[in-house]
Amino acid sequence: MELKYIYDNYKKLTDQKISIIARIRSNRQGKTVSFMVLNDGTYMDDLQVVYKPEILGYEDAKQARISSIVEITGILTLTPSRPQPFEIQASEIQLLDQAIEEYPLQKKEHSSEFLREISHLRARTRTFQAIFKVRSTAAYAIHKFFQEEKNFTYVTTPIITSNDAEGAGEEFIVTTTESKLNKDYVDDFFAKKANLTVSGQLNGEAFAQAFKNIYTFGPTFRAENSNTSKHAAEFWMIEPEVAFADINDNINLMKDMLVYVVKYLLEHNVKELTFLESQLESGLIEKITKMVNADFKVNTYEEVLKLLQQAIDNGHKFEENNIFFGLDLGTEHERYICEIVNKCPTFVTNYPKEIKSFYMKVNNDNKTVAAVDLLVPGIGELIGGSERESNYETLILRCKESGINPEDLYWYNNLRQYGFYKSAGFGLGFERLIMYVTGAANIRDVIPFPRTPKTLLY
Ligand code: 4AD
Ligand code: MG
Repeated sequence: MELKYIYDNYKKLTDQKISIIARIRSNRQGKTVSFMVLNDGTYMDDLQVVYKPEILGYEDAKQARISSIVEITGILTLTPSRPQPFEIQASEIQLLDQAIEEYPLQKKEHSSEFLREISHLRARTRTFQAIFKVRSTAAYAIHKFFQEEKNFTYVTTPIITSNDAEGAGEEFIVTTTESKLNKDYVDDFFAKKANLTVSGQLNGEAFAQAFKNIYTFGPTFRAENSNTSKHAAEFWMIEPEVAFADINDNINLMKDMLVYVVKYLLEHNVKELTFLESQLESGLIEKITKMVNADFKVNTYEEVLKLLQQAIDNGHKFEENNIFFGLDLGTEHERYICEIVNKCPTFVTNYPKEIKSFYMKVNNDNKTVAAVDLLVPGIGELIGGSERESNYETLILRCKESGINPEDLYWYNNLRQYGFYKSAGFGLGFERLIMYVTGAANIRDVIPFPRTPKTLLY
């Protein structure tokens, strides 16, 4: 008999004899009937199997432990009034592989800390199945948005690179086994210094000058030794770059992208989102539906400072209460603005040039840059972007001011000498987006095998 997946539109299979292979979530014997709950990974809901002593394979079925794999043959019936929407009345059960007794995911609540220690197994739980399904759908929706809706060209930028795109000195250095074994240990990439990329932006800018609209979507690495719930050493970034565009075009693209992706998730992953809402964050669906309705605000950095000062004058206490032009906003400030003042995702524009990267366009006031960050409730910074400095001399100056040797970025600066009229782009932290749409409170829970200072198990 042809094997079916649970996902194979079970409604069409109602009252038919089917055969399916799946993993056991629970197995419980009754006097006259016994029950197995199975999941084959293709569908959020579990499949209940009802079996009786007279079926083929009953003795094995009785002894099958949690996590074992079975093949079930029987009639599929709909059970709309029960938690599982359908079940199988088994006529035969074959125990294909018996699991050992000490399976760590026994049927009870587990802490997320414990589950992180078993990343090779946690994707089998319903919560993680839902999170990683949403992650997969969101990645697909992002490609679809850029390619089908906006006609952007997808560019893969190098993982091993010689630049520090953010100029923040937070790179992982690349070396070789041979060099490591050598007593005269050097950090080298065949005698050159190399690191893992912190951002594909600089290479992306070169391609935007050729294709106008491009985006990257790949892993990036930051040697930030911070144990926060929002930072990982390895995370994925989506970085669109648009030639001849400014900061307002940038804001519009961010909005369009987020609205598209969230709408796509609401259309395709409603089961997962509903489940996550019940497990991780009440009001999750309403929150993200608001995003579809483009509920965003825009504040300049200076407006933000005023709002923070007002809050302090009215008695609010931040850990950092000294508010001045040049202050690098902390997460507490960012969250106050979008959660308490605006109560919606907020774009903050025109930051002081001293606290932003060298490549951002210096505004006419010569003290701010055309940067824009998107802050969202519960997360803080979700997106960072800017219009790029297009003037060659200013860029060289900004490199020097930021402690970068312009010669190290010769090719990047050089782009400004062959016709360069505006360019703008941004970086969306993919994991932070997944946290926002799933309600997961920790970045370690939206990455299949997370890389943070304390986790390198896999
Ligand atoms: O603000 P960032 O550093 O900007 C850039 O890298 C620019 N080159 C982007 C561009 O204009 N093309 O990083 C962008 C986003 C942040 O807003 C945040 O969401 C995410 O990347 N991010 C991190 N996510 C997880 N772990 C970390 N350590 C992160 N650092 C940044
Ligand atoms: Mg940033």
